[in-house]
Amino acid sequence: MVGIGPKQPPSRKGSMHDLPQNLLQQIKDFEDVFTVDRQLLKKIVAHFVKELEKGLSVEGGNIPMNVTWVMGFPDGNEQGTFLALDMGGTNLRVCEITLTDKKGAFDITQSKYRMPEELKTGTAEELWEYIADCLQQFIESHHEEENLTKLPLGFTFSYPATQEYIDHGILQRWTKGFDIDGVEGQDVVPPLEAILQKRGLPIKVAALINDTTGTMIASAYTDPEMKIGCIFGTGVNAAYMENVGSVPKIAHLNLDPELPIAINCEYGAFDNERVQAFEKMTAGLYLGEIFRLALVDLVDNKPGLIFNGQDVSKLRKPYILDASFLAKIEEDPYENLSETYDLFVRELGIHPTEPELELSRRLAELIGTRAARLSACGVAAICTKKNIESCHVGADGSVFTKYPHFKARGAQALREILDWKPEEKDKVVIMAAEDGSGVGAALIAALTLKRVKAGNLAGIRDMEEMKTLL
Ligand code: BGC
Repeated sequence: MVGIGPKQPPSRKGSMHDLPQNLLQQIKDFEDVFTVDRQLLKKIVAHFVKELEKGLSVEGGNIPMNVTWVMGFPDGNEQGTFLALDMGGTNLRVCEITLTDKKGAFDITQSKYRMPEELKTGTAEELWEYIADCLQQFIESHHEEENLTKLPLGFTFSYPATQEYIDHGILQRWTKGFDIDGVEGQDVVPPLEAILQKRGLPIKVAALINDTTGTMIASAYTDPEMKIGCIFGTGVNAAYMENVGSVPKIAHLNLDPELPIAINCEYGAFDNERVQAFEKMTAGLYLGEIFRLALVDLVDNKPGLIFNGQDVSKLRKPYILDASFLAKIEEDPYENLSETYDLFVRELGIHPTEPELELSRRLAELIGTRAARLSACGVAAICTKKNIESCHVGADGSVFTKYPHFKARGAQALREILDWKPEEKDKVVIMAAEDGSGVGAALIAALTLKRVKAGNLAGIRDMEEMKTLL
């Protein structure tokens, strides 16, 4: 099958009724399993709101609702030079950011390093050595022969961490396929600082940051309507600004209840009786795997239904497909799904029939749509909890930026959940964020130093060292 003719917008309707009855029935079964209708969305959001509350309580719940010690939004007048280290799921990025005296402006220099796959399941020592190598390389190439004064570092560590202080963070558990022994339950700042010191690198961790908090702060730097930061990527999560008085689990600290404090929800853990289940239905790391498992299930449990006489050994390999496989299927512009056919041949060694391609396309669409609609539930839950009627939500991550129709499907779900009238414009708008783990991390480091200077020391551990950064 070859892709021919001009590209046209996809239209499944015409071809779908040519499908054999058993495949049509299978599509219907998939639709039943994967469709989240308006009523269910609303039910999920109501439960979600309760779970957010529970996470803030002394007893806690499934959703960690981690206190971040980011105490307020930037006002645009932040200044200084900062390093930012971003340990995401795929890459490690080092940036140097100068917040200039022009309100809301900055200069950035950055280097990206691929995170070797083995590192994700290696030892803690290998991880810290690798991070130190990257920082060292960055400093050596950008500050050759300079006598550097100590630089404050915003460390974006995008995993759930308990923070008693902003310059501290105990990893609760690895997510996104990481499984490095000896890090869970430990503060990740001391081993990083120890290795920086050993190598004589003039860097001090001023703040440990989650990517969502960084995204919210970076986006709020230029847009005062920003109230929430989200990541829809390898993992999913959001952060928002709470007031101290609404966080019972820190009541014992007797802080002013009116003070703002950012909460990193870690809501990928919603429904965690089933282990990071929310994240598994919405995040990029898992969308391809859901698709694969659904097809394998048909091969094994409905003999003869699909891929007759084909070698499906590749399809049996866990995680062989990532979200981009589904994205490409959804983007296939050809009526005969020839690009999808090529994709199956190339990636899986399978030569599907046209009806099998139709089934695959519908399955991809259902999985992608469910992910987008469920993603909207987290945002809607925060808005409901905080009585936010309208705001901007800064979003980043590969699924948000690259997955076809994700934005429109999410916006439609928000509309259904929050009951906007048909003639009303979207009130809660999820939009592309500013660079959270770069500029956001620098801003949070700057905000922290501002607090040190002002003597507002809540949630700051290493006071004396912090003062040397002023
Ligand atoms: C992590 C969060 C992170 C999210 C998006 C999740 O797996 O636990 O800390 O914000 O992924 O990167």
